[in-house]
Amino acid sequence: MAKNPVVVYGASGYTGMLIMDWLIDQDIPFTAVARNAGRAKEMMAQRVVRLESANYELIEAEHDVDALVEAFRGAKVVCNTVGPFSTVGLVGVEAALKAGCHYLDTTGEQPHLRKVRDQFGELYRQAGLLVSPSNAYMYTFAEIAAELALETPGVDALETATLCRGPRGGAGVSVGSTATIFEGYRHDACFLWEKKLTPHAPHASFNVVDPAFMQPVFCLPWGGTSLPVNFEHDPRVRSCISSVGFYDNDAMRMVHALGQKWDAEYKDLPREQQDAVLKQIVDSTTPAMPPRERTTVQRTVDFAIGRGQLASVRATVHGTTPYIATGAIQTAGVIKLLDGDTARVGFASGSKAFGHRYLLGFLEQRGLARAKVAHL
Ligand SMILES: NC(=O)c1ccc[n+]([C@@H]2O[C@H](COP(=O)([O-])OP(=O)(O)OC[C@H]3O[C@@H](n4cnc5c(N)ncnc54)[C@H](OP(=O)(O)O)[C@@H]3O)[C@@H](O)[C@H]2O)c1
Repeated sequence: MAKNPVVVYGASGYTGMLIMDWLIDQDIPFTAVARNAGRAKEMMAQRVVRLESANYELIEAEHDVDALVEAFRGAKVVCNTVGPFSTVGLVGVEAALKAGCHYLDTTGEQPHLRKVRDQFGELYRQAGLLVSPSNAYMYTFAEIAAELALETPGVDALETATLCRGPRGGAGVSVGSTATIFEGYRHDACFLWEKKLTPHAPHASFNVVDPAFMQPVFCLPWGGTSLPVNFEHDPRVRSCISSVGFYDNDAMRMVHALGQKWDAEYKDLPREQQDAVLKQIVDSTTPAMPPRERTTVQRTVDFAIGRGQLASVRATVHGTTPYIATGAIQTAGVIKLLDGDTARVGFASGSKAFGHRYLLGFLEQRGLARAKVAHL
């Protein structure tokens, strides 16, 4: 049973520990939950800033609904960072509901979002609880840009780009994120077109142009992103097409080529053989947890182009250190939920539940984001 109001599940993980940093910064007591408490204790001692002054406890629990209900019960909010969410995510969602907790996670995977919305949205609503996946850099920054664009009357069509830079060759990505990226080969990626989720063409790509860059950025649908799902039943929005590019075009072309190889050679293999292929790709590209991000290296540009019959607007959010920003976004949500201040219960994005202006302000005040809106 949790004795603190906030649970961080995935306590030995890169992102879970960054959420703890921010909770400690805001003096919010938390219960860290991990499948291996020994490993979590060791990792937290190495990685969590100011742990010595934190008010926390650490609980070990199996990744199973009953065990997690027992671990979560007593808390008000669960921050789940155990992914890939499309394979292991629903266990945490079900456990948080049964334990009577609001739920936030860090997914960016469409299949998880759709399952959470369709299987759990109404149940959370009836319980008076929020279930809000994707409170993370991907895709809260792009959604803030989209919401800024939607402030212009008449805008009903969105195109968004999530562009991020890390060390060359993609070395700044965590093990969990790498597994999640390649897991995406197994799933459809959809955009929103005339209010319907529609699959992207196989191997779709985009050459995205932004005034912040000398050259076009090679982008992919990247699983479609969260935005088409979050806007699917939004009366303001008719279409939403989203793209993602690490601005390392060579690394992105490698991911694109691997996607083609997946379809040619692995798509029809039995699941266990696919698992082995994915594990080999993850082990060879991301052998270990990356170091803490630096503002000199990790930078991001997210923009949304909004159009209507005559309206046209471009909203851009410049940012730094996306994993660290993910910890801040989760903590911003936690603060609202502990205060009983959510505009939505049931399934809703962070922007809809807490307000995009609140989330942007939280990030801006901490030097993690800067937004600009241009009417075209
Ligand atoms: N959308 C975004 O912008 C964004 C940002 C950050 C993270 N994420 C997502 O968040 C997830 C975690 O990322 P991360 O950076 O924290 O990765 P990570 O450093 O690899 O950590 C993964 C965590 O999940 C735990 N875990 C993995 N499989 C588990 C299972 N079957 N049962 C119980 N625990 C399990 C790991 O525990 P062990 O140590 O015991 O293995 C570890 O605590 C990924 O899906 C990633 O894509 C998304």
